Amino acid sequence: LVASLEQVEQTYIMVKPDGVQRGLVGEIISRFERKGFKLTGLKLFQCPKELAEEHYKDLRAKPFYPKLIDYITSGPVVSMAWEGVGVVASARKLIGSTDPLQAETGTIRGDLAVQTGRNVVHGSDSPENGRRETALWFKEVELCQWTPAQASWLR
Ligand code: TYD
Repeated sequence: LVASLEQVEQTYIMVKPDGVQRGLVGEIISRFERKGFKLTGLKLFQCPKELAEEHYKDLRAKPFYPKLIDYITSGPVVSMAWEGVGVVASARKLIGSTDPLQAETGTIRGDLAVQTGRNVVHGSDSPENGRRETALWFKEVELCQWTPAQASWLR
C-alpha cells in the first residue's frame, strides 16, 4: 500500500558490446531479475551511430566521447527496460561506480570489469533519463505491460 503511493520509475539498462562478447548477458540480466524488479522490454540490438550519439549527447564535449561511440556501436548490445519503485537508484547500486576499479565487490562492474572504457553495462542516472532512454531505445510495441503472477501459477 505504501509502495503504491510512491512513484513507479522506469530505467534503461544495457549490456554493452564487451558484456555480450564476453558471454555475460545471462549473468547481468540475472542480477536485475533476482533483485525483483519488473522486466518490461528486452532485445539484442546493433546500435546505429546516430542512436549512440543521441543516447550520450550530454557527453559530446568529453575527450572520451568518440571512443565511447565507437565502443557502443562495435557489436550488438542487449537492451532492457525495467520498472518499479526506486528502480533507477537501485539499478545504479547493482551496477557500481563508473570506474570498475572503484566499484565495490558485489556490484556488476566491481565483479566483472576492469576498465572504465569497457565497463560492461549501462544504467540510467535519473528517473527522467530512465523515461527518455527507454523511449529512445524501444518502440512502444516492444514494451510489455504485464502483471507478474508472483508464485500463484505454480500451485
Ligand atoms: P558516465 O555517464 O559518466 O558514467 P555511467 O555509465 O556510470 O553513468 O559515462 C558514460 C560512459 O562513458 C561510461 O560508462 C564509460 C564512458 N567513460 C569513459 O570512457 N571514460 C571516462 O573517463 C568516463 C567518465 C566515462
